Amino acid sequence: MRIRKLLGAVAVALAVTVGATGCGSRGGAAEAGAGASANPSDSLVGISMPTQTSERWIADGGNVEKSLKELGYKTDLQFANDDIPTQVSQIENMLTKGAKALIIAAIDGTTLTDVLAKAKEQNVKVIAYDRLINGTPNVDYYTTFDNYTVGVQQATSLLTGLGLVDASGKKVDGKGPFNVELFAGSPDDNNANFFWTGAMDTLKPYMDAGTLKVPSGQTKFEQAAILRWQAPVAQKRMEDILTAAYSSGTKLDGVLSPYDGLSIGIISALTSTGGYGKGDLPVVTGQDAEKGSVKSIIAGEQYSTIFKDTRQLGSQAVKMVDAVLKGQEPEVNDSKTYNNKVKVVPAFLLKSVIITADNYKKELIDSGYYKDADVK
Ligand code: BGC
Repeated sequence: MRIRKLLGAVAVALAVTVGATGCGSRGGAAEAGAGASANPSDSLVGISMPTQTSERWIADGGNVEKSLKELGYKTDLQFANDDIPTQVSQIENMLTKGAKALIIAAIDGTTLTDVLAKAKEQNVKVIAYDRLINGTPNVDYYTTFDNYTVGVQQATSLLTGLGLVDASGKKVDGKGPFNVELFAGSPDDNNANFFWTGAMDTLKPYMDAGTLKVPSGQTKFEQAAILRWQAPVAQKRMEDILTAAYSSGTKLDGVLSPYDGLSIGIISALTSTGGYGKGDLPVVTGQDAEKGSVKSIIAGEQYSTIFKDTRQLGSQAVKMVDAVLKGQEPEVNDSKTYNNKVKVVPAFLLKSVIITADNYKKELIDSGYYKDADVK
């Protein structure tokens, strides 16, 4: 009797597993996943990107898809419109189609626990792309840039633009005080905290010394954060700050912005509500070297951006997938920084570069990332 019960339970468990894989002809969980297929053309790789509202994610998706196809993999590339349920259902769909690996740039790093538990049941390998996936054991590897350093670079370029640091990175004494305002990224994106911490560690000594002042008084991450990195929200916040803290003629000298999309909204507020013109715009930073912002930098509006070569990031993610699907260990260069609250996710970190009008040509055009005509 007991044995019959046990057999019944095993049968139910098997049925559930096969049902969950939703890929009858490919077999069950044991067959799918790492090392299961020596032949890439048998393997589907799901690529889940957060949004198409920013050029960088379109380029990321395209680069990853192209490189996987060159290796012979089948791909399913989806963009989720910055909508969490859409991203979850797109990933579920990839699992139903029998994906053997997933490359995911999460909208909110904490919302994929259930769908990644399903991925684990199917032995599907998961690579977190640029943004860490939090709160789950079911993320195998992570590839990104050194996000703390990105924040340091953003703040350093703000200091350089204000003349507090020279081109060689040396502190220049006797300048200031300067008025600055601070923006942070989306609080549900793990990267936003790293950017903020890197930037604030760099700016704090200047704030403590009174060389940098923040007239709005808004110096906390929660006050500075812009949910989902939305430009109109940043524009509105900048307008409100200008009205509340600058209308009596106080001059704003610099704005820490963590993303080019936000910088565009911020510059709109500066020129409209703030009444700043080309010659006297505050120093505004950015990130991603998006074409519109590079044009703005060349035109003397935005001061700087951070170039993160998405070709390198894409190629790193593809190398990781190729290795795990062949049952090999992918190369990592960081095994301590990215704790997702369940485990430290082994990562490969890439280097980013500060871009201003002085070096955009060398870094972006000569490297083949953009054509001259793209940014003119
Ligand atoms: C990325 C940045 C990007 C931001 C907004 C972050 O996760 O690391 O490169 O600017 O998202 O899309």
